[in-house]
Formats: sequence, structure tokens, C-alpha cells
Amino acid sequence: MRAEILKLLTSNAGAFISGEKLIKATGITRQGVWKHIQGLIEEGYVIESVKGQGYRIQAVPERLTQSQLETIVSESTLLEKAYHLETVGSTNAFLKEQAKRVNTALVVADAQSAGRGRLGRSWESAKGEGLWMSMLLRPPIQPLKASMLTQVVAVSMAKAIREVAGIQVQIKWPNDLMVGNRKVCGILTEMAAEINAIEYVIIGIGLNIAQGAFPDDLKEIATALAWHTNKPVKRDLIIARFLKCFSEDYQRFLEAGDLVDFVADLNALSYLKGHQVWLSETPEVTYLALGVSRDGELMLNDAQGQTRLVAFGEVSVRRKEYATGI
Ligand code: BTN
Repeated sequence: MRAEILKLLTSNAGAFISGEKLIKATGITRQGVWKHIQGLIEEGYVIESVKGQGYRIQAVPERLTQSQLETIVSESTLLEKAYHLETVGSTNAFLKEQAKRVNTALVVADAQSAGRGRLGRSWESAKGEGLWMSMLLRPPIQPLKASMLTQVVAVSMAKAIREVAGIQVQIKWPNDLMVGNRKVCGILTEMAAEINAIEYVIIGIGLNIAQGAFPDDLKEIATALAWHTNKPVKRDLIIARFLKCFSEDYQRFLEAGDLVDFVADLNALSYLKGHQVWLSETPEVTYLALGVSRDGELMLNDAQGQTRLVAFGEVSVRRKEYATGI
């Protein structure tokens, strides 16, 4: 009954719905309706009640449940298992453990106590501040191609963010999403493989959504989605949209065997393309970033017009005008 009242209120979002209408639709008494409204308020819904007008829902709780996540995952055929955890060390490490038992899975944690970033860095993952999730996949591809998946994920996540939050992010090759000159999302791909075959790939995604502020070392280089939109960004909507996009993109990638179907998006959304860049190993040399190849390499031109291809994981690359590292 409470779910029915909630459905009526949310489908009428922004407008009042009278007590009479709720009584008629549910067949319960005025007191019964009132009791359920109080229950919803206790669950975190903000409901305004005005005499003579009825009830109006103003905000829904930003909470994710196991059954909600299972529903989202069941809508695509990509993943067989879903886990919602309140807190965990790292969602990537959690799936590494699950990989002994399950084939494919998605895990979302409200908080991570030991979130991991690339190059051995840590990743700030406090409760209520972002989307911390990982996927376990078993792609039938050569280990050398696994890093391309990171770029497919970046394209799918960029689409999901645009559609859900209305924000156009850029992709900073190979694994960051940027709003302006600040990082909003990082992707960490880890893999277990033999020389010729992948056993599994774990792709972890950290999306900053609602930080109040960042610690001093991140202040200049990080941002959160909510700072750029005036509506709340709900994790369930991002996850659902991302999985829908990624299920299709993953199939397209597997069929093609490289990034041929993604180079257009990767280059249109590129944060580096057309800019002067430098590489961490040779900060004294300036290159012009030409874009990303169908093999996922970053194509650069040096001052002599010589082209250089940079493979994933080889170096970190920075835009010349932003000396601070991301
Ligand atoms: C980076 O940009 O350095 C990658 C950051 C990846 C962070 C995510 S949060 C969910 C998943 N679990 C982790 O421990 N790390 C990734």
C-alpha cells in the first residue's frame, strides 16, 4: 500500500494530490493514508502537506537498495549478479574475491574504506559523496586489448552522465572524465590473465557526485557533478543508464575487436585533442595531441612533425597549460 501511495505521489511530482484522491485510489481510510505518509517521511522522503490541497512530494531519499540494484542489473543481460554493500574496502578487491564463485557481476558500495586509484594512489570514497562501483566481466579478447575496454566504459559513462545529469563531460585519455579542467570520474581496470587469454577483468568506476569540498591535494584538480547541475544526481539513474549504454557498447566492441566504432566519440569528447601536451617521462618535450587511434593509442606530433603513439599505461599525460597532475 505504501508503495502504491509513493507511486501516486512520484508520478504527480511537483503537484499536490488530494487526500480524497489517495483514499479513492487505495481504498484505505484518511488515517491510513496519513500513517503511510508518515512512514514515507521516516524513510527519508520529503512530503509537504497543505490543508485543502493535499500532499506533494518534494524530495526522494538518495538511497540504493539491494533489490533496486538487482532490478537494474536484470534489465540487461550483461551481468548475472548484483551486490549492494554499505561499506567495503574496495569494490574492485571485493569482486576479485567473488570472481572465484561468479561469472559476471556488479557491485556498488555506499562507501569504501580503502578505495584504490591508478598508479597505487588511493581514492576518496565517502558515503553520500559519489558512485563507487565495479563490474566483473570475462571478455573473450586478447589480454593486450583489455585496456580498450576502459575507453569503451568512458564513452558509455559520458553518455549516461549527459543523459541523466545534463552535463557534457570530456574524456581525458585514457581513463578520466573531466568537467572543465577538473576530474569528475576515474576508471581503474584490473585483470587476471594468462599470456593468451583473459580470466577476468574488473572495471572500477569512481564518480564524484556530491562532495561538499575536496581535501587540499585534490582541491584544484577534482570536481563533483552536483556542483555543475542544480538538480540532485541519483546514483540509481546513472547506474541504470550506464548499464544500458555499456551493454550495447560492449557488444559492439567485442564484435569489432577494436575501438573502430568508438574513435569518433573518443575524439569528439577528447580533453586532449588539439592541445599541447607533455608526458610524465619527458616533461621537457611538448607534443600536439592528435587524438585516439582505433587501437586506443594516443597519437601525438612532436615539434618536427614526427608522429608518436602512446599506449595505455605507458605514461601519464598532461595538458601543457595545467601543470598540476591528475
Ligand atoms: C583513477 O582515476 O585513479 C581510478 C579511480 C577508480 C576508483 C574506483 S571507485 C570504485 C572502484 N573501487 C576502487 O577501489 N577503485 C575504483
